[in-house]
Amino acid sequence: MEKSLVLIKPDGIKRKLVGEIIKRYEYRGLMIENIKMIKPTTNMLKQHYIEHIDKPFFAELVDYMSSDFVVAIVLSGEHAIELVRKINGSTNYMQAELGSIRGDFANSITRNLVHGCDSPESFKREYDIWFG
Ligand code: CMP
Repeated sequence: MEKSLVLIKPDGIKRKLVGEIIKRYEYRGLMIENIKMIKPTTNMLKQHYIEHIDKPFFAELVDYMSSDFVVAIVLSGEHAIELVRKINGSTNYMQAELGSIRGDFANSITRNLVHGCDSPESFKREYDIWFG
């Protein structure tokens, strides 16, 4: 059994897609272990997105993510990390497969609705930021 950390980003809440998004994880057998709404601080986002700190889109990403509430979720299940990333679809909405969350609903590379951790190590790091 593996755990994954998901964020539903501010555009997911504004567009009233929270139920639609959570349903997709549950329908694939993932279990909600913990869930909360939180307005992230710049400091939390700097830690969360540390690997992108030097990227040209970093400031825009932090501005956007700190603009409103996000939903932070811990999901558990077999291969939870890989499964969540499949359900989410590619980061770039233009390459995201139809049937994935981003493929069906995203219309911006920054405002791409969801985030999923990419390894057990990033799960631990991100869990401490969002639920620690
Ligand atoms: P996420 O899966 O949360 O991980 C990093 C985030 O940075 C990504 O989703 C997007 O929201 C954002 N992102 C990635 N690439 C770009 C880009 N080229 N331009 C703007 N934002 C990006």
